[in-house]
Amino acid sequence: MCGIIGYTGTEYAKDIIIEGLSTLEYRGYDSAGVALGGDSISIYKKSGRVSQLNDLIPNSFSKIGIGHTRWATHGAPTSRNAHPHLSFDGTIAIVHNGIIENCDVLKKEITSRGITFQSDTDSEIIAHLLALEDQSNMVQAVENVAKKIEGSSSFLAIRKGDDNIYCHKKNAALTIGIGLDGNYIASDMLALADHTKKGIVLSDDETAILSKDSVSVYKDGVKIKKQLIDISCKPPKICPCYMQAEIDEIPTALQNTYDSFYSTIKKECIEDIKKAERIAIIACGTAYHAGLYGKEVIEILANKPCEVYIGSEYDRARFISSKTFAIFISQSGETADTLAAVNRSKELGAKTLSITNVANSSITFLTDYALILEAGPEIAVAATKSYNSQLLMLYLLANELAGKKVDKEVVKKLAEEAAMLSTHSIFTESMAKDNLFFIGKGIDELSAMEGALKFKEITYKMAEAYPAGELKHGTIALMDKHCTVIALATNEKDKQKLTVSVSEIKARHAKTIGISAVGEIGCDISLFLPKLSDPLLYPILSIIPMQLLSLSTSFHLGINPDKPRNLAKSVTVV
Ligand code: AGP
Repeated sequence: MCGIIGYTGTEYAKDIIIEGLSTLEYRGYDSAGVALGGDSISIYKKSGRVSQLNDLIPNSFSKIGIGHTRWATHGAPTSRNAHPHLSFDGTIAIVHNGIIENCDVLKKEITSRGITFQSDTDSEIIAHLLALEDQSNMVQAVENVAKKIEGSSSFLAIRKGDDNIYCHKKNAALTIGIGLDGNYIASDMLALADHTKKGIVLSDDETAILSKDSVSVYKDGVKIKKQLIDISCKPPKICPCYMQAEIDEIPTALQNTYDSFYSTIKKECIEDIKKAERIAIIACGTAYHAGLYGKEVIEILANKPCEVYIGSEYDRARFISSKTFAIFISQSGETADTLAAVNRSKELGAKTLSITNVANSSITFLTDYALILEAGPEIAVAATKSYNSQLLMLYLLANELAGKKVDKEVVKKLAEEAAMLSTHSIFTESMAKDNLFFIGKGIDELSAMEGALKFKEITYKMAEAYPAGELKHGTIALMDKHCTVIALATNEKDKQKLTVSVSEIKARHAKTIGISAVGEIGCDISLFLPKLSDPLLYPILSIIPMQLLSLSTSFHLGINPDKPRNLAKSVTVV
């Protein structure tokens, strides 16, 4: 959710922290703040964007700092609630990513000591608790505080008159970057990309102390050895609209996903999946929709029973055991609900595979096997190219389970067609006013669900996905001239049924737009998809016009599609 960054070294910290926060802004952007340390601690924070915060901060000689860009959980997105938070005695500043579940109990304990809270956040608790600890042993102090906190809590702290950054990781990711000019820590490797290629990924319940020339990591009070790994990643290029750029990158992403699958998939993984009695796919949001597609292709091609669960609902999955093979799909690899599902599956004995877009992410570390999409960094909050890549990865996996290798030419053709489709628009101005419905049958209904999610996320308008044949059982009551219906038809066997649904909708005066691979289905306007070798591949293409129409509607409404209200790219709270 929130983005956090820290630096201690020989360079001035202000610019490093601000730059890092700009990279991390896609994780949360309702407010931001910086604490610059040294002999004293200066805090600058503001509701709104990082660029506005930068204007607030005077030039500073401080060479240690921490910064935060927020997605509000406790307390409104105001300057007062923005991080960093200062301890009651002004000696400690903290930034925090997570949710303190026992916040009320801890707040009561702290206020009973006569301490007044300066914000409505749960995070401020950490600053006060640390200041109340015996600070002659900071590792112990940090660990004591971490133990008092229930929930997900990764935090950084700096002290007055001290050049060290004290860090603790619980659930939300933290990566340390080892630089020539000092040491860095961030919630996302992308924020370290300009500074170093070497780093350490902290695991849960680890505490780290960063000085300008050393890094020490501890667990349960004992110093531990951590592996130095390659954390290099391509920082995303600056562009006016990331979502547009990411849709344009779909053809490249697909080809990279193809190469990544065949160079990474392990025989043992395929064997383990084949041995399992059932497959469970767990994911959230867009990745969940990809999971629904995964079920279809795995059941159809590999003839294996497969259930799909929304991450936050996975506690309802009752038959997970050592006979289950669990597949987790997550663009970021950090989604807290999916992460919790990984842990639960492992506890219940299931073998696990992750499909993420971020190597070295928490979920990839935890699973037995990992596949990386290699779609390239995705910055826009609304997932686009990662979804297309997830579908392709699942298609390749299902074929592999069926003992078939997909020819590279198939994906090359798919990528070419995806590039062609990116130039077609089905946007009409009425979409910005109307209620939208996305309908389809079979596998197309899943694409409709993703189409509707995209539309809601970046236009703030009501949109609903429906199985075409189910409309007449109630929802058709909503149809009138104020509705636009996007009808998907990619399967010859469903053509007749879709045609009937469209005529029922038209009879109620709603506007209809078809996305069809089976010719005319009677819509007012139609976009025809090119012929593909396998109809199961259509969802990889049919989503593109829907991604584009959401984007055009968002522009039309004057919304910034990259940073829609109330959302954040990586949802690291449950
Ligand atoms: C996608 O457009 C959304 N922003 C959101 O639903 C996202 O897919 C979901 O939060 C899961 O994220 P993940 O893929 O990083 O796990």
